[in-house]
Amino acid sequence: MHDKEYYIDEADFSPEGLEIVSRLHQRFSSRSRQVLCGRNRNVFNMGRYVVKIPKNLDGIADNDWEGSVSNGNDDPHEIRYARTRLAWVEELPIVFMEWVEPATSIEIIQRMGFEPDWVMSVDCGQVGFARDGRLLAYDYGPR
Ligand SMILES: Nc1ncnc2c1ncn2[C@@H]1O[C@H](COP(=O)(O)OP(=O)(O)O)[C@@H](O)[C@H]1O
Ligand SMILES: [Mg+2]
Repeated sequence: MHDKEYYIDEADFSPEGLEIVSRLHQRFSSRSRQVLCGRNRNVFNMGRYVVKIPKNLDGIADNDWEGSVSNGNDDPHEIRYARTRLAWVEELPIVFMEWVEPATSIEIIQRMGFEPDWVMSVDCGQVGFARDGRLLAYDYGPR
């Protein structure tokens, strides 16, 4: 099952912390369709949404941020963040985020007729389309 493989940066955690992180990974892995591995988070595909679990300390900072900022503007020329919920589970921040289908510049232009300037400001252009067609950033943690 290659699409369910993930790694945790074990050296970042205390033995107790590692146990908590591992347990959280197992819990969501068993219910997910697929795991998508990021630099700081392992992301479980739950269908309409994803669950982001920190795999290292930077992932904790990223989750804290992504789960806390939001904006609800309807203007495609302004940066838009995916909708999130933040849950603290045993002192770890877990992010629930709406599903965003990653899109390349070409796909964005094909669909919208232009590429908004803010896309360039998102690290590695990690943006895509939500189910309702909004173009959203899905990876905007500070680390
Ligand atoms: N909201 C989302 N919808 C669909 N896939 C996502 C979403 N957020 C992240 N992913 C997938 O999970 C991977 C890792 O998530 P990401 O936010 O980039 O974590 P990291 O900051 O640790 O790199 C992404 O490259 C992407 O494939
Ligand atoms: Mg990423």
